[in-house]
Amino acid sequence: MANPSLLILAGDGIGPEVMAEVKKIIGWFGARRGVTFDVSEDLVGGCAYDKHGTPLHDDTMAKAQAVDAVLLGAVGGPKYDTLDFSVKPERGLLRLRKEMDLFSNLRPAQCFDALADFSSLKKEVVAGLDIVIVRELTSGVYFGEPRGIFTEGNERVGINTQRYTESEIARVARSAFELARKRSNKVCSMEKANVMESGILWREVVQEIHDKEYPDVALSHMYADAGAMQLCRWPKQFDVIVTDNLFGDLLSDMAAMLTGSLGMLPSASLGLPMANGRPKALYEPVHGSAPDIAGTGKANPIACILSFAMALRYSFDLGDEATRVEKAVEKVLADGVRTADLMGPEDGKAVSTSQMGDAVIAALQASV
Ligand code: IPM
Ligand code: MG
Repeated sequence: MANPSLLILAGDGIGPEVMAEVKKIIGWFGARRGVTFDVSEDLVGGCAYDKHGTPLHDDTMAKAQAVDAVLLGAVGGPKYDTLDFSVKPERGLLRLRKEMDLFSNLRPAQCFDALADFSSLKKEVVAGLDIVIVRELTSGVYFGEPRGIFTEGNERVGINTQRYTESEIARVARSAFELARKRSNKVCSMEKANVMESGILWREVVQEIHDKEYPDVALSHMYADAGAMQLCRWPKQFDVIVTDNLFGDLLSDMAAMLTGSLGMLPSASLGLPMANGRPKALYEPVHGSAPDIAGTGKANPIACILSFAMALRYSFDLGDEATRVEKAVEKVLADGVRTADLMGPEDGKAVSTSQMGDAVIAALQASV
Protein backbone atom coordinates (compact mmCIF):
# COMPACT_ATOMS: atom_id res chain seq x y z
CA MET A 1 0.00 0.00 0.00
CA ALA A 2 1.20 3.51 -0.75
CA ASN A 3 2.52 5.55 2.15
CA PRO A 4 0.09 8.08 3.58
CA SER A 5 0.75 11.56 2.24
CA LEU A 6 1.54 14.69 4.19
CA LEU A 7 1.74 18.23 2.86
CA ILE A 8 3.89 20.54 4.99
CA LEU A 9 3.10 24.24 4.79
CA ALA A 10 5.58 25.76 7.23
CA GLY A 11 4.56 29.35 6.47
CA ASP A 12 6.11 32.45 7.99
CA GLY A 13 7.98 33.66 11.06
CA ILE A 14 8.76 30.82 13.46
CA GLY A 15 6.68 28.42 11.31
CA PRO A 16 9.67 26.96 9.42
CA GLU A 17 11.73 26.74 12.64
CA VAL A 18 9.18 24.75 14.61
CA MET A 19 8.35 22.64 11.54
CA ALA A 20 12.02 21.70 11.17
CA GLU A 21 11.70 19.86 14.51
CA VAL A 22 8.58 18.05 13.32
CA LYS A 23 10.45 16.96 10.21
CA LYS A 24 13.13 15.43 12.44
CA ILE A 25 10.42 13.53 14.29
CA ILE A 26 8.83 12.35 11.04
CA GLY A 27 12.31 11.12 10.08
CA TRP A 28 12.61 9.31 13.40
CA PHE A 29 9.28 7.55 12.89
CA GLY A 30 10.41 6.41 9.43
CA ALA A 31 13.77 5.14 10.65
CA ARG A 32 12.74 3.62 14.00
CA ARG A 33 9.06 2.76 13.83
CA GLY A 34 8.51 1.89 10.18
CA VAL A 35 5.92 4.65 10.01
CA THR A 36 6.68 6.39 6.73
CA PHE A 37 4.96 9.25 4.99
CA ASP A 38 5.23 10.74 1.53
CA VAL A 39 6.07 14.29 2.51
CA SER A 40 5.78 17.25 0.16
CA GLU A 41 6.23 20.91 0.99
CA ASP A 42 4.80 24.14 -0.27
CA LEU A 43 4.19 27.78 0.62
CA VAL A 44 1.39 29.49 2.50
CA GLY A 45 0.96 33.01 3.88
CA GLY A 46 3.43 35.83 3.39
CA CYS A 47 6.09 33.63 1.79
CA ALA A 48 3.54 32.49 -0.81
CA TYR A 49 2.60 36.11 -1.42
CA ASP A 50 6.26 37.02 -1.93
CA LYS A 51 6.62 34.33 -4.58
CA HIS A 52 3.21 34.23 -6.26
CA GLY A 53 1.40 37.43 -5.24
CA THR A 54 -1.20 35.37 -3.39
CA PRO A 55 -1.10 33.85 0.12
CA LEU A 56 -2.24 30.49 -1.28
CA HIS A 57 -1.58 29.46 -4.86
CA ASP A 58 -4.29 27.40 -6.56
CA ASP A 59 -1.80 24.57 -7.09
CA THR A 60 -1.11 24.48 -3.34
CA MET A 61 -4.84 24.43 -2.65
CA ALA A 62 -5.21 21.49 -5.02
CA LYS A 63 -2.35 19.64 -3.30
CA ALA A 64 -3.94 20.23 0.11
CA GLN A 65 -7.20 18.73 -1.17
CA ALA A 66 -5.38 15.65 -2.45
CA VAL A 67 -3.20 14.64 0.52
CA ASP A 68 -4.14 12.63 3.59
CA ALA A 69 -3.22 15.46 5.96
CA VAL A 70 -1.77 18.96 5.95
CA LEU A 71 0.68 20.18 8.60
CA LEU A 72 0.84 23.93 8.89
CA GLY A 73 3.30 26.10 10.83
CA ALA A 74 2.13 29.70 11.09
CA VAL A 75 1.34 32.63 8.83
CA GLY A 76 1.80 36.40 8.95
CA GLY A 77 4.25 39.06 9.97
CA PRO A 78 4.63 42.85 10.18
CA LYS A 79 6.03 42.99 6.66
CA TYR A 80 2.57 42.10 5.38
CA ASP A 81 0.52 44.38 7.63
CA THR A 82 -0.06 46.97 4.93
CA LEU A 83 -1.10 44.50 2.21
CA ASP A 84 -4.62 44.63 0.87
CA PHE A 85 -6.95 42.55 3.05
CA SER A 86 -7.66 40.11 0.21
CA VAL A 87 -4.01 38.98 0.00
CA LYS A 88 -3.03 39.11 3.67
CA PRO A 89 -1.24 35.95 4.86
CA GLU A 90 -4.20 34.96 7.07
CA ARG A 91 -6.42 34.73 3.98
CA GLY A 92 -4.34 31.75 2.85
CA LEU A 93 -5.09 29.88 6.05
CA LEU A 94 -8.77 30.84 5.98
CA ARG A 95 -9.05 29.64 2.37
CA LEU A 96 -7.59 26.26 3.33
CA ARG A 97 -10.05 25.91 6.19
CA LYS A 98 -13.02 26.97 4.06
CA GLU A 99 -12.30 25.04 0.87
CA MET A 100 -11.30 21.86 2.71
CA ASP A 101 -14.49 22.37 4.76
CA LEU A 102 -12.64 21.81 8.06
CA PHE A 103 -15.60 22.59 10.25
CA SER A 104 -14.44 20.97 13.47
CA ASN A 105 -11.40 22.47 15.12
CA LEU A 106 -10.15 20.55 18.15
CA ARG A 107 -8.05 22.64 20.50
CA PRO A 108 -6.94 20.64 23.53
CA ALA A 109 -5.62 22.52 26.54
CA GLN A 110 -3.68 20.22 28.76
CA CYS A 111 -1.54 21.32 31.67
CA PHE A 112 1.57 19.19 31.97
CA ASP A 113 2.45 18.61 35.63
CA ALA A 114 5.90 20.03 35.15
CA LEU A 115 4.39 23.34 34.04
CA ALA A 116 1.65 23.71 36.65
CA ASP A 117 3.77 26.22 38.55
CA PHE A 118 4.36 28.23 35.46
CA SER A 119 0.75 29.18 34.73
CA SER A 120 -0.34 32.66 35.78
CA LEU A 121 -3.13 30.91 37.68
CA LYS A 122 -2.73 29.10 40.99
CA LYS A 123 -1.30 25.61 40.71
CA GLU A 124 -4.39 23.91 42.15
CA VAL A 125 -6.56 25.60 39.51
CA VAL A 126 -4.60 24.22 36.56
CA ALA A 127 -2.75 21.08 37.72
CA GLY A 128 -4.12 18.09 35.83
CA LEU A 129 -6.23 20.24 33.52
CA ASP A 130 -7.24 18.40 30.35
CA ILE A 131 -10.00 19.98 28.28
CA VAL A 132 -10.77 20.29 24.57
CA ILE A 133 -12.38 23.24 22.87
CA VAL A 134 -14.26 22.24 19.73
CA ARG A 135 -14.42 25.40 17.67
CA GLU A 136 -16.64 25.70 14.60
CA LEU A 137 -14.18 26.79 11.92
CA THR A 138 -15.79 27.41 8.56
CA SER A 139 -18.74 29.67 9.23
CA GLY A 140 -20.03 32.34 11.59
CA VAL A 141 -18.80 35.90 11.55
CA TYR A 142 -15.51 34.91 9.92
CA PHE A 143 -17.28 34.12 6.65
CA GLY A 144 -20.85 35.53 6.83
CA GLU A 145 -22.17 37.90 4.16
CA PRO A 146 -22.65 40.81 3.85
CA ARG A 147 -19.21 41.90 4.89
CA GLY A 148 -17.04 44.85 4.01
CA ILE A 149 -16.43 48.53 4.63
CA PHE A 150 -19.17 50.61 3.02
CA THR A 151 -20.09 54.27 2.91
CA GLU A 152 -23.34 55.36 4.46
CA GLY A 153 -24.11 59.07 4.13
CA ASN A 154 -20.89 60.82 4.99
CA GLU A 155 -19.23 58.11 7.04
CA ARG A 156 -17.87 54.60 6.61
CA VAL A 157 -19.42 51.55 8.18
CA GLY A 158 -17.67 48.21 8.77
CA ILE A 159 -19.92 45.16 8.52
CA ASN A 160 -19.49 41.50 9.37
CA THR A 161 -22.31 39.04 9.67
CA GLN A 162 -22.73 36.22 12.15
CA ARG A 163 -24.60 33.52 10.27
CA TYR A 164 -25.14 29.86 11.14
CA THR A 165 -27.33 27.30 9.44
CA GLU A 166 -28.85 24.44 11.39
CA SER A 167 -26.73 21.90 9.55
CA GLU A 168 -23.52 23.79 10.32
CA ILE A 169 -24.38 23.78 14.01
CA ALA A 170 -25.52 20.16 13.95
CA ARG A 171 -22.33 18.79 12.42
CA VAL A 172 -19.96 20.50 14.83
CA ALA A 173 -22.22 19.51 17.73
CA ARG A 174 -22.01 15.87 16.60
CA SER A 175 -18.25 16.03 16.47
CA ALA A 176 -18.16 17.41 20.03
CA PHE A 177 -20.52 14.70 21.30
CA GLU A 178 -18.50 11.98 19.57
CA LEU A 179 -15.32 13.29 21.17
CA ALA A 180 -17.01 13.51 24.58
CA ARG A 181 -17.95 9.84 24.37
CA LYS A 182 -14.25 9.00 24.11
CA ARG A 183 -13.47 11.21 27.11
CA SER A 184 -15.59 12.08 30.16
CA ASN A 185 -18.95 12.15 28.35
CA LYS A 186 -19.56 15.81 29.14
CA VAL A 187 -20.13 18.77 26.80
CA CYS A 188 -20.64 22.44 27.59
CA SER A 189 -21.94 24.51 24.67
CA MET A 190 -21.18 28.26 24.66
CA GLU A 191 -22.91 31.07 22.74
CA LYS A 192 -24.69 34.30 23.57
CA ALA A 193 -28.32 33.28 23.24
CA ASN A 194 -29.17 36.22 25.49
CA VAL A 195 -28.28 38.74 22.76
CA MET A 196 -27.86 36.93 19.43
CA GLU A 197 -30.44 35.04 17.34
CA SER A 198 -27.63 32.89 15.98
CA GLY A 199 -26.93 32.02 19.61
CA ILE A 200 -30.57 31.05 20.22
CA LEU A 201 -30.48 28.75 17.19
CA TRP A 202 -27.11 27.37 18.28
CA ARG A 203 -28.48 26.43 21.69
CA GLU A 204 -31.66 24.87 20.25
CA VAL A 205 -29.86 22.78 17.64
CA VAL A 206 -27.17 21.54 20.05
CA GLN A 207 -29.93 20.51 22.47
CA GLU A 208 -31.93 18.75 19.71
CA ILE A 209 -28.93 16.78 18.45
CA HIS A 210 -28.18 15.84 22.03
CA ASP A 211 -31.71 14.68 22.82
CA LYS A 212 -32.09 12.67 19.60
CA GLU A 213 -28.63 11.19 19.15
CA TYR A 214 -26.50 11.60 22.29
CA PRO A 215 -28.81 11.48 25.32
CA ASP A 216 -26.07 9.62 27.24
CA VAL A 217 -23.75 12.65 27.15
CA ALA A 218 -24.15 15.26 29.93
CA LEU A 219 -24.88 18.56 28.14
CA SER A 220 -24.85 22.03 29.66
CA HIS A 221 -25.11 25.49 28.09
CA MET A 222 -23.33 28.67 29.11
CA TYR A 223 -23.19 32.21 27.78
CA ALA A 224 -19.75 32.64 26.28
CA ASP A 225 -18.81 35.58 28.51
CA ALA A 226 -19.70 33.60 31.63
CA GLY A 227 -17.82 30.69 30.10
CA ALA A 228 -14.70 32.83 29.82
CA MET A 229 -15.06 33.74 33.48
CA GLN A 230 -15.55 30.09 34.50
CA LEU A 231 -12.55 29.04 32.43
CA CYS A 232 -10.41 31.33 34.56
CA ARG A 233 -12.11 30.55 37.85
CA TRP A 234 -12.24 26.74 37.74
CA PRO A 235 -11.35 25.30 34.33
CA LYS A 236 -11.44 21.70 35.55
CA GLN A 237 -15.27 21.85 35.63
CA PHE A 238 -15.11 21.46 31.82
CA ASP A 239 -14.23 18.55 29.59
CA VAL A 240 -15.39 19.27 26.01
CA ILE A 241 -16.51 22.81 25.16
CA VAL A 242 -18.27 23.39 21.82
CA THR A 243 -18.58 26.90 20.50
CA ASP A 244 -18.68 29.05 17.38
CA ASN A 245 -15.82 30.36 15.29
CA LEU A 246 -15.20 33.72 16.97
CA PHE A 247 -15.89 32.69 20.57
CA GLY A 248 -13.75 29.61 19.95
CA ASP A 249 -10.89 31.80 18.76
CA LEU A 250 -10.98 33.86 21.96
CA LEU A 251 -11.70 31.06 24.42
CA SER A 252 -8.95 28.86 23.00
CA ASP A 253 -6.30 31.56 23.46
CA MET A 254 -7.46 31.92 27.01
CA ALA A 255 -7.47 28.18 27.62
CA ALA A 256 -3.96 28.08 26.18
CA MET A 257 -2.65 30.39 28.87
CA LEU A 258 -4.06 28.13 31.58
CA THR A 259 -1.47 25.62 30.47
CA GLY A 260 1.43 27.99 30.86
CA SER A 261 2.30 28.99 27.33
CA LEU A 262 0.70 29.42 23.95
CA GLY A 263 3.78 27.59 22.70
CA MET A 264 2.34 24.31 23.99
CA LEU A 265 -0.99 24.07 22.25
CA PRO A 266 -1.70 21.92 19.19
CA SER A 267 -4.84 21.78 17.09
CA ALA A 268 -6.58 19.56 14.58
CA SER A 269 -9.05 20.90 12.03
CA LEU A 270 -11.20 18.11 10.68
CA GLY A 271 -13.73 17.86 7.87
CA LEU A 272 -15.76 15.13 6.24
CA PRO A 273 -14.33 11.68 5.50
CA MET A 274 -12.53 11.30 2.17
CA ALA A 275 -12.88 8.27 -0.13
CA ASN A 276 -10.22 6.43 1.92
CA GLY A 277 -12.20 6.96 5.12
CA ARG A 278 -9.76 9.47 6.59
CA PRO A 279 -11.19 12.87 7.47
CA LYS A 280 -10.01 15.90 5.53
CA ALA A 281 -7.53 17.31 8.02
CA LEU A 282 -5.13 20.13 8.78
CA TYR A 283 -2.96 20.22 11.89
CA GLU A 284 -1.37 23.39 13.22
CA PRO A 285 -0.12 24.93 16.46
CA VAL A 286 -2.50 27.43 18.04
CA HIS A 287 0.28 30.02 18.29
CA GLY A 288 1.05 32.47 15.51
CA SER A 289 4.18 33.32 13.56
CA ALA A 290 5.77 35.26 16.48
CA PRO A 291 7.78 37.61 14.23
CA ASP A 292 9.46 39.15 17.30
CA ILE A 293 11.41 35.95 17.95
CA ALA A 294 11.60 34.53 14.42
CA GLY A 295 15.13 33.55 13.49
CA THR A 296 16.44 33.69 17.07
CA GLY A 297 16.08 29.99 17.88
CA LYS A 298 13.84 30.83 20.83
CA ALA A 299 10.59 29.36 19.52
CA ASN A 300 9.01 26.45 21.35
CA PRO A 301 8.38 23.59 18.86
CA ILE A 302 6.15 21.61 21.25
CA ALA A 303 2.81 22.90 19.91
CA CYS A 304 3.83 21.91 16.40
CA ILE A 305 5.18 18.54 17.59
CA LEU A 306 1.94 17.84 19.46
CA SER A 307 -0.01 18.84 16.34
CA PHE A 308 1.84 16.09 14.49
CA ALA A 309 0.85 13.73 17.32
CA MET A 310 -2.78 14.69 16.70
CA ALA A 311 -2.26 13.84 13.01
CA LEU A 312 -1.01 10.39 14.01
CA ARG A 313 -4.13 9.89 16.11
CA TYR A 314 -6.89 11.44 14.01
CA SER A 315 -5.70 10.92 10.43
CA PHE A 316 -3.63 7.77 10.63
CA ASP A 317 -5.22 5.77 13.42
CA LEU A 318 -1.86 5.58 15.21
CA GLY A 319 -3.12 6.51 18.66
CA ASP A 320 -0.35 4.55 20.41
CA GLU A 321 2.34 6.35 18.46
CA ALA A 322 0.61 9.68 19.20
CA THR A 323 0.70 8.82 22.89
CA ARG A 324 4.39 7.99 22.50
CA VAL A 325 5.05 11.53 21.25
CA GLU A 326 2.94 13.07 24.01
CA LYS A 327 4.74 11.03 26.67
CA ALA A 328 8.11 12.06 25.22
CA VAL A 329 7.10 15.71 25.54
CA GLU A 330 5.92 15.10 29.10
CA LYS A 331 9.23 13.43 29.95
CA VAL A 332 11.30 16.26 28.50
CA LEU A 333 9.33 18.83 30.48
CA ALA A 334 9.59 16.74 33.64
CA ASP A 335 13.38 16.67 33.11
CA GLY A 336 13.35 20.45 33.23
CA VAL A 337 14.12 21.12 29.58
CA ARG A 338 12.62 24.54 28.82
CA THR A 339 12.42 26.90 25.90
CA ALA A 340 12.39 30.60 26.79
CA ASP A 341 8.57 30.88 26.82
CA LEU A 342 8.47 28.31 29.65
CA MET A 343 10.80 30.19 32.00
CA GLY A 344 10.75 33.15 34.28
CA PRO A 345 13.51 35.75 33.94
CA GLU A 346 15.58 34.12 36.71
CA ASP A 347 15.03 30.47 35.85
CA GLY A 348 18.39 29.55 34.36
CA LYS A 349 19.21 28.72 30.80
CA ALA A 350 16.66 28.09 28.09
CA VAL A 351 17.25 25.58 25.32
CA SER A 352 16.89 26.49 21.66
CA THR A 353 14.16 25.32 19.30
CA SER A 354 16.35 22.60 17.86
CA GLN A 355 17.67 21.49 21.26
CA MET A 356 14.06 21.03 22.37
CA GLY A 357 13.38 18.95 19.25
CA ASP A 358 16.48 16.85 19.92
CA ALA A 359 15.41 16.31 23.52
CA VAL A 360 12.01 15.05 22.36
CA ILE A 361 13.71 12.66 19.93
CA ALA A 362 16.01 11.40 22.68
CA ALA A 363 12.94 10.72 24.84
CA LEU A 364 11.22 8.97 21.92
CA GLN A 365 14.30 6.88 21.41
CA ALA A 366 14.30 5.91 25.09
CA SER A 367 10.66 4.82 24.77
CA VAL A 368 11.28 1.95 22.34
C1 IPM B 1 -6.30 31.06 15.09
C2 IPM B 1 -5.81 32.37 14.54
C3 IPM B 1 -6.51 32.62 13.21
C4 IPM B 1 -7.98 32.80 13.49
C5 IPM B 1 -5.95 33.76 12.35
C6 IPM B 1 -4.46 33.62 12.12
C7 IPM B 1 -6.68 33.89 11.06
O1 IPM B 1 -6.00 33.38 15.45
O2 IPM B 1 -6.19 30.03 14.38
O3 IPM B 1 -6.77 31.03 16.22
O4 IPM B 1 -8.43 33.90 13.84
O5 IPM B 1 -8.71 31.82 13.36
MG1 MG C 1 -6.66 32.68 17.36
